[in-house]
Amino acid sequence: MTTVLHLTASGVSDGSVSRAATAKIIADLDPSKIITRDLAITPMPQVNSQWINARLVPPQDRSVADAAALALSDSLIAEIAAADVIVIGMPIYNFGMPAALKAWVDLIARPGVTFSYTENGPVGLIKGKKAIVAVASGGTPVDAPIDFATPHLRQVLRFVGIDDITVHTAKDLLPLAA
Ligand SMILES: Cc1cc2nc3c(=O)[nH]c(=O)nc-3n(C[C@H](O)[C@H](O)[C@H](O)COP(=O)(O)O)c2cc1C
Repeated sequence: MTTVLHLTASGVSDGSVSRAATAKIIADLDPSKIITRDLAITPMPQVNSQWINARLVPPQDRSVADAAALALSDSLIAEIAAADVIVIGMPIYNFGMPAALKAWVDLIARPGVTFSYTENGPVGLIKGKKAIVAVASGGTPVDAPIDFATPHLRQVLRFVGIDDITVHTAKDLLPLAA
């Protein structure tokens, strides 16, 4: 019984390499449940002052407005909590991750919820998850010095406690085009 959280960030619906690659990864995993979060089709809002302030208010002291500001962030974190494996399709856009995926990152990195600072530095609070990432690019090879997306995503996942991370070059997972 495996639950997969499927995150896609390509702005392209038809012909997307990263979408095809994550579909292949998920078919191979044959999960019992798939939670789909398409970050391009339902774009993520950017964090704003209301959200930044609300996340620091203890749950018992939150106003209705604070709770509303955090509602999507809470849902996104609950999706991670419900999953065993997080499958992420990530195109490289302008040497980084798509803005939609970065917005998701900003919403799920929550002090006291997904990470905390200790005397020994930051500690990730998400435990027991595996991440599988398919990276699609044009001329920028995955993990080349000018690929700032892949190391960034790895760092963010580790920061919140997800350190079992497999990265694939998306097109390596797909049959060669005729
Ligand atoms: C806005 C935009 C920016 C891009 N920037 C880069 C880049 O910096 N490096 C690169 O190798 N490819 C770049 N590409 C090409 C995409 O990474 C490539 O087409 C990839 O297959 C996109 O993933 P998808 O097929 O899943 O949509 C860019 C594409 C777009 C649309």
